[in-house]
Amino acid sequence: MRDSRGEGVEYLRISLTDRCNLRCLYCYSHGNKLSREELLSFEEIERLVRVAISLGIRRVRLTGGEPLVRKGVEKLLARLSLLPGLEDISLTTNGILLAKFAGKLKEAGLRRVNISLDTLNPAKFQWLTGRGRLEEVLRGTEEASGQGLNPVKVNVVVLRNVNQDEVIDFVRFSIENRLSVRFIEFMPSVGLLPWEKFFFPVSLVKKEVGKYFSMEEIEVEGGGPAEYYRVEGGGIIGFIAPITCSFCSRCNRIRITPEGRVKPCLGSDYSLDLKGALRRGEEDGAIREKMRYAVLCKSSSHPFEKRVSFARVGG
Ligand code: 5AD
Ligand code: SF4
Repeated sequence: MRDSRGEGVEYLRISLTDRCNLRCLYCYSHGNKLSREELLSFEEIERLVRVAISLGIRRVRLTGGEPLVRKGVEKLLARLSLLPGLEDISLTTNGILLAKFAGKLKEAGLRRVNISLDTLNPAKFQWLTGRGRLEEVLRGTEEASGQGLNPVKVNVVVLRNVNQDEVIDFVRFSIENRLSVRFIEFMPSVGLLPWEKFFFPVSLVKKEVGKYFSMEEIEVEGGGPAEYYRVEGGGIIGFIAPITCSFCSRCNRIRITPEGRVKPCLGSDYSLDLKGALRRGEEDGAIREKMRYAVLCKSSSHPFEKRVSFARVGG
């Protein structure tokens, strides 16, 4: 499926819920949550994925909010992994419930996992996430690797004066645990931390790493917008710069929100209701046209004027 820029769009992110078991300062916003009825059912998600596959989607990522707070994610995964044409299913989680679920998820067909973890300091973790215990995420990370999920990638949103001093600790974490760590620029979002005050460019993170480790740039399959390096000692680290280095022109993904709207981009206000179409009994062809239209609406630069609700659209 090609967009108006001629880019192939083959990657679909589906947010399973707007709920989360953490309250990260930069992300969480209190306020009404969607009811069960408002969420796409698993049957509806499966149908949308089938239609997306017929348009050329080959990879699906399940996100949230926190996807593992939705009951039965492993059942959804098992159904999706049976769909012909889908080459890859992945999941982004905050890791709190991962120790409990990694085995079941692997069994259901999950191959790899991204874990959001912004600090390795237990007290800071509790402060930043409102309620979480670092230990649970670390156990989740270990269990994910132990169950053979591969790769396990840790995503770190870099925040000025919050975790910028932990960059080297994270590089060591990558080396010691044989997993990739990706540093991501903070994007304007609906949480409590003002973007202007907490934004920290990943170019400075890279410079800091370069002071202590030799780095060799590498190609990573399905690497998406990240730039990857192997650091001495064997760790792999990545840099994702949505703010300072727009990668929109290479973006190959579309999103479906938990309430069943298809969105061309995280930062876009534009979306089309798929759930309504499903529930009105529209045919696959009509749904396919709506998805195709959303793909055509992808643009070549970031429309990030507004603060995004990551929990609503899936970070
Ligand atoms: N900027 C960058 N990443 C963010 N996430 C949430 N809010 C932001 C933001 N403002 C990430 C989380 C997690 C996923 C849900 O989105 O760290 O990886
Ligand atoms: Fe939840 Fe992730 Fe947002 Fe934290 S950043 S509140 S873990 S969705």
